[in-house]
Amino acid sequence: MSVVGKRVIRSEAADRVKGAGLFTDDYKYHGMLHAAVVRSPIARGEIKKISSDSILRHEGVKGVFTYKDIPGKNCIPIVIDDQPFLAEKFVNYISEPIGVVVADDRRSARAAAKKIELNIKPLTPLLDPLQSRNHPDIHLFGNDNIFKQMRIVRGDAAKAFKGCDVIIENEYRTPYQEHAYIEPQAMIAIPYPDGSIEIRGSMQCPFYVRKAITTILGLAESKVRVIQCATGGAFGGKEDVPSLLACQVALPAWKLGRPVKLVYDRSEDMISTSKRHPAWVHYKSGATKEGILRAVEAEYVIDGGAYATLSAVVLFRGTAHSVGPYRCENVNVKTYAVATNKVPTGAFRGFGSPQILFAVESQMDQLAERIGISPLEFRKRNILRVGDTTVTGQKLENSVGLEETLDKVVQVSGWSPKASKEDGVGYGLSTIYYGVGLGAGGKALARTGARVILHADGSALFSVGTTEIGQGMTTVLSQITADELGLPLKSVGMLPTDTSRVPDSGPTVASRSTLMSGNALKDACIKIKSVLLEEASLLTNHPISEISIDEGSVFAGNDKLPLLNVIKSCSLKRLPLSAEGWVISPPASFDDSTGQGDAYIVYAWATNLAKVKVTRETGEVTVLKLWSAHDVGKAINPALVEGQIEGGALQGIGYALMEDMTADKNGAIKNSEFSTYIIPTAEDQPEIIPIIVEHPYPWGPSGAKGFGEQPLMGIAPAIANAVYNACGVRVKELPITPEKIWAGLNK
Ligand code: MOS
Repeated sequence: MSVVGKRVIRSEAADRVKGAGLFTDDYKYHGMLHAAVVRSPIARGEIKKISSDSILRHEGVKGVFTYKDIPGKNCIPIVIDDQPFLAEKFVNYISEPIGVVVADDRRSARAAAKKIELNIKPLTPLLDPLQSRNHPDIHLFGNDNIFKQMRIVRGDAAKAFKGCDVIIENEYRTPYQEHAYIEPQAMIAIPYPDGSIEIRGSMQCPFYVRKAITTILGLAESKVRVIQCATGGAFGGKEDVPSLLACQVALPAWKLGRPVKLVYDRSEDMISTSKRHPAWVHYKSGATKEGILRAVEAEYVIDGGAYATLSAVVLFRGTAHSVGPYRCENVNVKTYAVATNKVPTGAFRGFGSPQILFAVESQMDQLAERIGISPLEFRKRNILRVGDTTVTGQKLENSVGLEETLDKVVQVSGWSPKASKEDGVGYGLSTIYYGVGLGAGGKALARTGARVILHADGSALFSVGTTEIGQGMTTVLSQITADELGLPLKSVGMLPTDTSRVPDSGPTVASRSTLMSGNALKDACIKIKSVLLEEASLLTNHPISEISIDEGSVFAGNDKLPLLNVIKSCSLKRLPLSAEGWVISPPASFDDSTGQGDAYIVYAWATNLAKVKVTRETGEVTVLKLWSAHDVGKAINPALVEGQIEGGALQGIGYALMEDMTADKNGAIKNSEFSTYIIPTAEDQPEIIPIIVEHPYPWGPSGAKGFGEQPLMGIAPAIANAVYNACGVRVKELPITPEKIWAGLNK
């Protein structure tokens, strides 16, 4: 192993610094038109008439398209096929797409889209998920407005509460969180004379986009090629939404036979695209006076917005993580993803878990206080270790580094719960876990392909089906490939992710790329390497068992020769030095009626410790320092793991303290600009101490488990617990604003 485990510089670093990377809006094509989307001004209504004739006479306008123009099915396929590409009879949220206008330039397209006359008869909208659930008269989805409900039933919670010495019961609320990626959603469609179409854009999941295009245009998968451009951040926000944009450019491109581009402006993006589900949690937990967690009863409701999109799988993850990383024998959890007449919510780093973990970890500290032991000691007595069983009944066989993350945080910070207290300063802990990969909720998609070509000059190119979205996948996969083939890192490159190069490899989500694409690449490299080893054996007269290849050199017994000699020899003999790799995930299982099963193939574990200062006069919170320890199995590139920890922590600080996105009484997103939606900047960044813990996962490449979402997940509760310890105010509704703390201090 030469480069795995090393802090190599990320592959696209120089491009980014020089501004050389090509993002979607950098591409221009001959005859390219620009699209703009006609959107619903109201949250719920019946479409009576769409009048577009007058705008067709406008300068530069080349076409207006509605559902009537769709040659295939009017549907954006995701989990449940309830979302139309363009609204037909009804609109169900403010900003729902109704039509697409294309023109010679972006400005004309946007101006024309605003002039389309819409006659929509308003209907009463349902905006609150708690009112929408089982509403007697208004049915947005099925009879109960519930996209999905789940349960975890384990032991007998009602009975166990009777034996608890301490019971804590609370309600928690969390708001929308906007991804705030630097690059807004962007897409281009290019039709070709052979009846195929190419889509280029900013996205996480090219195979989702391909499926959407084949659905709306009625094309074979072989006729649709989707290529990812450099993508300026995603965080889950480019999981399902790009399918919508791709359809918005593909339909006019297909009809007019010309390339069409669409780039949302920031406010359009903030109003109309997915966000983290707002959530309501009722949580009751009980423990014995010895500090053992005995029973949990919880109800978790997430606001899915107007269409199901990813809500069912977001709920799955929230449910599986609903008790936190603790042993608990008596559990009764009920969870619901509910329809409302608001923008569909979706994937966001943590995927349904940060909301409920905020409740879980707030509860843990309150239990500890009432029992009279420290939050550290209470966690020590309840956390999962190897051999324990999770709340879904999954026996943990290996790779459980939670206790080490807890110990390391304490050790590195020097913090002790008994340390003398400074007024207005407090420390707060959180311990969390994260099921890596798609798990039982998405196992049908849990397969991944790769392709590797080793050229005669010793350089190699690989293709995978997962995407680089800023997380560092290209670098990590290059490191894995270089080591597998025995090449120096600089000889290895990755091609842009392209649906024509590898079979459907599932989505780039759930922190699965290192694990899945890493293993698929290993599978491909093993095939190439066996050819190299055989040839090296012939050239050196050593048996294969005595040969190793590393960083461009072949070692055979005491001999050493350049790998290039072997590659050239293979090339002369016309031996195949390219290969396909394929991997399917180990099994996962889940019984929806009881919530029992092996929910995920492996878990990542984390402890956060936040040190905050609360200014009593204003209620303002400053995060002074944050220690964040993560068991990642194996850090393929420690610098990238640390980068993820820092970025995720800052995003978590935003979620905890300032990001306050809400819908108004009409169902419109109130914060449509960065002037009204405040996210953290470098000024808000405390000192963050990343700590890497490695409990290898045997199935993972070099023991890696995958890492991307965990850094955000435990930040809000650590800060909430720290705020309580600093000033005695327990805030149960995110974000923890100065107003809420001030109100608590002045009660
Ligand atoms: Mo990610 S939140 O699983 O797209």
